[in-house]
Amino acid sequence: MTQTHVLLPDPKGLARGAAILHAGGLVALPTETVYGLAADATNDRAVASIFEAKGRPRFNPLIVHLEGLASVRRYAHLTPLAARLAAAFWPGPLTLVLPLRDGSALSPLVTAGLDSVAIRVPADPTARAFLKAFGGPIAAPSANPSGKISPVSAQHVLDGLAGRIDAVIDAGACAVGLESTIVDATTAQPRLLRAGGLAVEDIEQALGEPLLPPADRTITAPGQLASHYAPRGHLRLNASAPMPGEVWVGFGPCPGARLSLSPSGDLTEAAARLFHALHDADALAGAQGAIAFAPIPDKGLGRAINDRLRRAAAPR
Ligand code: TXA
Ligand code: MG
Repeated sequence: MTQTHVLLPDPKGLARGAAILHAGGLVALPTETVYGLAADATNDRAVASIFEAKGRPRFNPLIVHLEGLASVRRYAHLTPLAARLAAAFWPGPLTLVLPLRDGSALSPLVTAGLDSVAIRVPADPTARAFLKAFGGPIAAPSANPSGKISPVSAQHVLDGLAGRIDAVIDAGACAVGLESTIVDATTAQPRLLRAGGLAVEDIEQALGEPLLPPADRTITAPGQLASHYAPRGHLRLNASAPMPGEVWVGFGPCPGARLSLSPSGDLTEAAARLFHALHDADALAGAQGAIAFAPIPDKGLGRAINDRLRRAAAPR
């Protein structure tokens, strides 16, 4: 057991967090999407301890967080497609998969031995100040135990990882509330790898062309989804009314709903509230309980919300 310190997002707290990272420790860090579990991306042992703290069964590749576009070239090749996307959407909730640069200082655990690397320049002021204070690349998956609901507050991080990480920087709730959208920009043809906090329609509009679908299409087939973001109890989707005993989470007008993603039916508000609602519904329903979500339109951020809900409801 480690004592997990709660740090303030002020210069003293950020300097303390940066010192922990330089010493090979783990610090949970707020970003506009979700809280990330940060380690020095050049330190093999520190990166390995991310997987240990999360209880991740496999070494999935991790996202490298950088302060700005200027440092990207140290670690990756900025393809022409990536340069356009970066100009349009960085800093922000977009991750680009790029060709890995030979001789980059990144730990091979970060890329899981691939010849590509996922890079993100976050917009959240605390994340940016922390990247500056640390002065190097930060590897960070979401700061939750593997397979559990993503954290969008420091308390969520502590609920899942207290005693397993060195510190969390508490900067309140995440503004976007959904993980970043991931686009493969290694070639000239943009491919969507994960729907997330930046709407696919916005990317397609900026590029003037559609994104290719994820190459592994089986992942979108219901029933084949890896269970992820899971509450303890049973979860039912597209529920236009609750069944007896269910905690019903509404969207738009839903008379009698215990919780709501957005009473006015706003998808941006719903995205910001999604993981709060999953955590709160999980607490209300309990381990044996049942949760039902109202239908969410499958457009804009609704696509990412529905993706997370399908994974949360997948059999496990
Ligand atoms: O918003 C976010 O993206 C958050 C915050 C903390 O930045 N991070 C996050 O990380 O969601 P994580 O580890 O939960 O998800 C990273 C995703 C994984 O699905 C992984 O497979 C993909 O990024 N990924 C990383 N490197 C990749 C690569 N070289 N090629 C393809 N996918 C990659
Ligand atoms: Mg995650």
